[in-house]
Amino acid sequence: MADVELIKKQITYHPDFPKKGVVFLDIFPVLRNPAAFEALLNHLENHIKSHTLALSESKKIDVVVALDARGFLIGPILALRLGAAFVPVRKGGKLPGECVKVTYEKEYGADIFEMQSDAIKPGQNVVVFDDLLATGGSAKAAGELISQVDGKTLEYIFMVELPFLKGSSKLNAPVYSVIQHD
Ligand code: PRP
Ligand code: ADE
Repeated sequence: MADVELIKKQITYHPDFPKKGVVFLDIFPVLRNPAAFEALLNHLENHIKSHTLALSESKKIDVVVALDARGFLIGPILALRLGAAFVPVRKGGKLPGECVKVTYEKEYGADIFEMQSDAIKPGQNVVVFDDLLATGGSAKAAGELISQVDGKTLEYIFMVELPFLKGSSKLNAPVYSVIQHD
């Protein structure tokens, strides 16, 4: 598809960043190219409206959850386009009020995620968005926070997936990625 090719060719590759053995995929050049950025948003919106909505009995997305920090670049725009709430999952110690909390491992380190406890109501339909799925540690942790407040994760959606790391096998709902990079 022309839109996927346009998005894909903006991504740059950085061996041994942030540590030896990791090839870091930089998605910021996609956002520097307005045509590619628009194509990405349209692609994600079309996917959710044509596939993800069918996964919900009410045919409604209530909440888009996105992950700190790169997920925040796209998650709120998607939420607006869907008429859904945007809810951030943040790194530890950044959110005020009562929070649910989880520790997790990702491709290049360990971290803590938190989400405000009242941000999702029990039974609400949630889509999780992040820029990249590597080992799946971050997305799995976000899914655990959503489960802790009894939200219903319909789908995990990513701009890029690294299938060789098998992150999707850790997740408790279907996975959709715009680009798969081996
Ligand atoms: C990156 C990326 C994903 C996560 C994927 O986030 O944005 O959230 O790693 O890795 P995993 O599938 O192995 O868990 P990072 O924690 O580096 O944060 P950033 O968005 O603040 O750069
Ligand atoms: N997050 C985890 N692994 C990554 C990678 N290889 N490139 C960019 N972000 C990442």
